Amino acid sequence: MFYEVNKPHGLPHNPFKAIVAPRPIGWVSTLSQDGIRNLAPYSFFNAVCDAPPMVVIGSSGYKDSVRNIEETGEFVCNQATLDLADAMNLSSAMVDSDVDEFALAGLTAKGGNLVKAPRVLEAKTSLECKVVNVQRLVDIDGNVTNSWLILGQVVGVHIDDSVLENGMLNVAKMKPLARLGYMDYSVTDKVFQMKRPAVPEKA
Ligand SMILES: Cc1cc2nc3c(=O)[nH]c(=O)nc-3n(C[C@H](O)[C@H](O)[C@H](O)COP(=O)(O)O)c2cc1C
Repeated sequence: MFYEVNKPHGLPHNPFKAIVAPRPIGWVSTLSQDGIRNLAPYSFFNAVCDAPPMVVIGSSGYKDSVRNIEETGEFVCNQATLDLADAMNLSSAMVDSDVDEFALAGLTAKGGNLVKAPRVLEAKTSLECKVVNVQRLVDIDGNVTNSWLILGQVVGVHIDDSVLENGMLNVAKMKPLARLGYMDYSVTDKVFQMKRPAVPEKA
């Protein structure tokens, strides 16, 4: 099948997020200007480069995380793993800005080393980030949307020693969660290696 995005697709649900899948979950923790902690999962999340390491977050609406990130210029992206699936889901509840989702989800907040924003102590990895840019997205017709893009630079990296083996991250042991479409999730618990092809020698 093919459908044009501005016309009905005839499917029971929009398949877009099931197509762009799996998406890692950036479990974003921030502090408000008033010092209230905030935590929420974002699957419009990824790394975009590694020199320097930068991540993006997409927000469908001007949510508490976006406001806090704009106000403070800082955030932490914790990685959600299978053991923390329920806590991650609890932290997505649409609660008032004055609710601390760390408490709601039974998680421990630990202040960052280089940013004031807290991290999830139970997470196997956390990326401390400083904001490069917060942008309100404009579509191809020039319409100003209510979607927001946050570009952040990673300035500090936390790794739980339990997932380090011979200095390498054991991702299969970490079991990172990923978001698919609909209500679906997946877990990475199998890993395989491939070497990149050698450049053929010129004749
Ligand atoms: C797994 C998962 C992924 C999500 N990804 C996004 C996302 O990428 N963008 C978004 O705007 N909301 C996303 N949400 C919804 C937000 O987590 C939810 O709206 C939350 O209340 C926002 O919190 P905040 O206002 O504290 O930032 C996601 C929810 C879940 C459970």
